[in-house]
Amino acid sequence: MTARTVAPATGKLGVLTPGMGAVASTFIAGVIAARDGISPPIGSVSQMAHIRLGTKDENRNPLIKEFVPLADLGDIVFGGWDPISPNAMEAAKTAGVLRGNDLDAISAEMEGIVPMSAVFDQRWVSRLEGIRVKDITNKWDQAEALIADIARFKQENGCDRLVMVWCGSTEAYQEPSEVHATVASFEQGLRDNDENISPSQIYCYAALQSDVPYANGAPNLTTDLDCIVELSKKNGVPIAGKDFKTGQTLIKTMLAPGFKARMLGVRGWFSTNILGNRDGEVLDDPENFKSKEVSKLGVLDGILQPEVYPDLYGNIDHVVRINYYPPRGDNKEGWDNIDIFGWLGYPMQIKVDFLCRDSILAAPIVLDLALFMDLAHRAGESGVQEWLSFYLKAPQAAGDSPAEADLFIQQTKLKNTLREWMGELPVTHSEAG
Ligand SMILES: NC(=O)c1ccc[n+]([C@@H]2O[C@H](COP(=O)([O-])OP(=O)(O)OC[C@H]3O[C@@H](n4cnc5c(N)ncnc54)[C@H](O)[C@@H]3O)[C@@H](O)[C@H]2O)c1
Repeated sequence: MTARTVAPATGKLGVLTPGMGAVASTFIAGVIAARDGISPPIGSVSQMAHIRLGTKDENRNPLIKEFVPLADLGDIVFGGWDPISPNAMEAAKTAGVLRGNDLDAISAEMEGIVPMSAVFDQRWVSRLEGIRVKDITNKWDQAEALIADIARFKQENGCDRLVMVWCGSTEAYQEPSEVHATVASFEQGLRDNDENISPSQIYCYAALQSDVPYANGAPNLTTDLDCIVELSKKNGVPIAGKDFKTGQTLIKTMLAPGFKARMLGVRGWFSTNILGNRDGEVLDDPENFKSKEVSKLGVLDGILQPEVYPDLYGNIDHVVRINYYPPRGDNKEGWDNIDIFGWLGYPMQIKVDFLCRDSILAAPIVLDLALFMDLAHRAGESGVQEWLSFYLKAPQAAGDSPAEADLFIQQTKLKNTLREWMGELPVTHSEAG
């Protein structure tokens, strides 16, 4: 196989997060801790996973970060926007994810990471009061202001390249409308202040106009809009979405492929969560929860293929609930009751009680998406990066057929994409090796 030409990762990489709350501050703290040798970047595939090359007898198994030219953690510069958080340290303290002594060691650097004033509109996140908000009402002017922020950040921090990962709140549910059909209609909509254009869409537009790859960590309607896909291809910039795959959905996409592999039936899957962080508060609004619900419900159908296996998966009651419960903070508890059936239709039950830490699971995903999106950009990619579906709850397809939701197929796709780019054969686990 011929390797692709991938530009080297020289100079600094700026990672911009619209939203500097629990996930973004935990991501930043973890990267600083890894860089300073305080704690390894656990959960990051780009940093910790090995990749097998060639047949198994060849014994070639380098770390991914040594196999593909990724930006070094030491070359990352952090930035972003937030309508509330004054800096990354305060955001981390408010989020309450990390313990005080873990933050003390890195407090000076965290305090120096000050988000820029946000493009924010309460119509999309009714539970939040923005105070650090740009005093600009026209959406075209807001996009221009973000483009200027991006250029200034790049220049002031001496960055060679930038990537943007949405770590902001989940916006209220919406369907695409006419304004989202083409780049031209979207730009007209920005000028006309079209009410269907949300802040995340303006950030994404600004990123793509600035040659900055954009990954969508929330269930917002952004990268999956026709106008955004068109713009990303036109400008030669990669996009990926949507919604970080953590917690309950991560477990779901680990278990469901197992049931399917063994041809065990599923009759029902009841999932409920309690969480008490700001994300939970935002999702307490039915309009914001609806965005999340849609992205959470899709995974089972994607994996179990009820249309192919109607006897096993054609009649599933799948229910997902999120309950805002302040005492729990970021330490979400996710219960799953799974009703499965086997030989002669006999029913069985599985109960999962996952006492998880949402942002601890999400932070390494932000890092990997940032590094792999930057790699994709240097490898000449544009449009939807379906090979990054591994990280996403509602993965976006690059073509007409739906993206794979099974975590293990997603992992194979990710690794085979890297192998292919570097001129190595895909690993098929066939008899030949
Ligand atoms: N934690 C997880 O495991 C996980 C998993 C999947 C998706 N997500 C999504 O990631 C996002 C971040 O989660 P979190 O736990 O950090 O939430 P959070 O509430 O702690 O942080 C979100 C931040 O976004 C800011 N924000 C809101 N609107 C903004 C705008 N227009 N521009 C810039 N900033 C804006 C808020 O002020 C807040 O500080 C949420 O959308 C969440 O649903 C999180």
